[in-house]
Amino acid sequence: MRIVTSVAAMQRLAMEWNRRGVRAGLVPTMGYLHEGHMSLLRKARERVGNRGVVVASIYVNPTQFAPTEDLAHYPRDLARDKKLCRDAGVDVVFVPGDHQMYPSRHGAEFSTYVVEETLSRGMEGVSRPTHFRGVATAVAKLFNIIRPEVAVFGAKDFQQAAIVKRMARDLNFPVKIIVAPTVREADGLALSSRNRYLSAEERRQAVALWQGIQLARQTVRTSTRPIPASRLNSELKWLIETRPAARVDYIEFFDPETLQPVAKVQRGAQIALAVFVGKTRLIDNARI
Ligand code: PAJ
Repeated sequence: MRIVTSVAAMQRLAMEWNRRGVRAGLVPTMGYLHEGHMSLLRKARERVGNRGVVVASIYVNPTQFAPTEDLAHYPRDLARDKKLCRDAGVDVVFVPGDHQMYPSRHGAEFSTYVVEETLSRGMEGVSRPTHFRGVATAVAKLFNIIRPEVAVFGAKDFQQAAIVKRMARDLNFPVKIIVAPTVREADGLALSSRNRYLSAEERRQAVALWQGIQLARQTVRTSTRPIPASRLNSELKWLIETRPAARVDYIEFFDPETLQPVAKVQRGAQIALAVFVGKTRLIDNARI
């Protein structure tokens, strides 16, 4: 397994693969890897085969964090991540430093961003207005540096995956975007690097997101008629906030293709929610 830390070295490697017709599969991450990330790495291997190469990028991308967010405290453990990647059969771990990704020399600041203008508006985009600009910019840069044939993203960040797909289509990146299912703990909590912020008591209460999703599903599936989103919304909010540490940021029901909110919820709609559990903001989503 190779560790690459410079953009120039990564681009040289990618160019060589390209010349030799070697297929590359990319899994972009911010590290502190868990079983959700590992499932994406396995999916990438499946796609490129044993003659292809799997690249994991590990970069805590500062432009997708607002100044008030957890950039400085975001969990990191590069030694452990490298071991997990090696065990998973990853070929290259790309770990660029900030000066590599966002160069700034002699007053020539980094000043070019990628902005998706439609799918980014709702949900996470409301609570985190510059978040997707940072994500799209970092992912576009990774695509240009690594030139992957396929890139794998998790359904856990449903809106992010939709935006990356749209960006790749709109800007003609020659990459196939694959979205892999959300990996969960036994009690339903979606795996996330941020789960490590939770105290033992908060961890118990964090199952509220999954229970909310299940209540929505059950209500919709046992009804003969579509259910008003506003009604489901208040029922879920009530259920979730019976946990003292939980406070709902948003609950939304929407069309999984357009991400447009729906007024009436039936099977096939998507639910996404963001909930503060103590100080930790967790997100989850599922098909109803
Ligand atoms: P990060 O949060 O590290 O997630 C990296 C990838 O893992 C994303 O595609 C995310 O959706 C996926 N993932 C996270 N938890 C998952 C789970 N429980 N099951 C399945 N997949 C899961 O998302 C980012 O990093 C960044 O925004 C990034 C795309 C790397 C751009 O900086």
